[in-house]
Amino acid sequence: MGAGNVGATLAQRIADAELADVVLIDIVEGMPQGKGLDMMEATPVEGSDARVLGTNDYSDTASSDVVVITAGIARKPGMSRDDLLNTNYKIVKDCTENALKYSPDAILIVVSNPLDAMCQVAYRVSGLPKHRVFGMAGVLDSARMRTFMAMELGVSVENNHAFVLGGHGDTMVPLPRYSTVSGIPITELLSPERVEAIVKRTAQGGAEIVSLLKTGSAYYAPSSSTAEMVEAVLKDKHKILPCCCFLEGEFGINDLYVGVPAQLGAKGIEKIWEIRLSDGERAALHKSAAAVRELLEVLKL
Ligand SMILES: NC(=O)c1ccc[n+]([C@@H]2O[C@H](COP(=O)([O-])OP(=O)(O)OC[C@H]3O[C@@H](n4cnc5c(N)ncnc54)[C@H](O)[C@@H]3O)[C@@H](O)[C@H]2O)c1
Repeated sequence: MGAGNVGATLAQRIADAELADVVLIDIVEGMPQGKGLDMMEATPVEGSDARVLGTNDYSDTASSDVVVITAGIARKPGMSRDDLLNTNYKIVKDCTENALKYSPDAILIVVSNPLDAMCQVAYRVSGLPKHRVFGMAGVLDSARMRTFMAMELGVSVENNHAFVLGGHGDTMVPLPRYSTVSGIPITELLSPERVEAIVKRTAQGGAEIVSLLKTGSAYYAPSSSTAEMVEAVLKDKHKILPCCCFLEGEFGINDLYVGVPAQLGAKGIEKIWEIRLSDGERAALHKSAAAVRELLEVLKL
């Protein structure tokens, strides 16, 4: 849903990897059709037999296994993700209702911002069980942290693992203790000042791209991150990734979508991994959850 920067780049990644057939839907007439046809014409060169269809008609999306919602407006310089709240609320509600009408068995992955609040919208509107509605943010935030770790240490990004939890905003919670290079926590490899610099740059990672682009927000890393989640579902990988999940008591948080480590497979969220947090980390997660809750109060959700 949404054939803009994130949606179209995600479609391209999925089609090129021959992961699934893709339907791109948008309200702009002609644009998804044009992008879809263009992507189809790339498949002979890419060696992929995936089919891509662009449309403005939800009936073309019928019987989808996975629905990804990227529809909505993106940030411009000076805007926070929260500034998108009211506009994207209506759009995400509309997309969820229409998508579910034609694909009642689908798994719903939300990408539109403000992410945690939009997950709650999709969950409430869809009436689906919580394991079938979740959001992408932690994979992206962790990928940014992994990139900065690799740049700092001059090592392969493949040696890196990072965990960023919490809401997808300024209060996100990068966890240096659980962020490792070849299994070694970065807290043992870098000075506290360098660790703090990586944490700060990670939390500001989206704003850094927005200020450079000036006309929109990031989409290459966001689409890669979403593709990883789609793949985990379609291939039933039981893969542990930071996902925005509905919590009912886990980490001491109730009735709220927030980013936590989760195991992803064909049924969606199979399990939330309740890793042990220090008092400081737990307090930061709760502060982040409180910021998400404030947004939901505006929406009365
Ligand atoms: N969760 C994350 O980590 C993350 C990362 C990047 C972007 N985002 C968010 O994803 C969203 C999309 O970003 P983008 O860069 O692709 O924006 P974009 O403006 O390039 O694309 C959005 C598309 O949504 C379409 N749209 C609007 N209303 C619609 C509706 N009712 N039905 C179907 N389509 C509709 C627009 O026509 C547009 O083509 C934004 O809200 C952005 O903030 C989230």
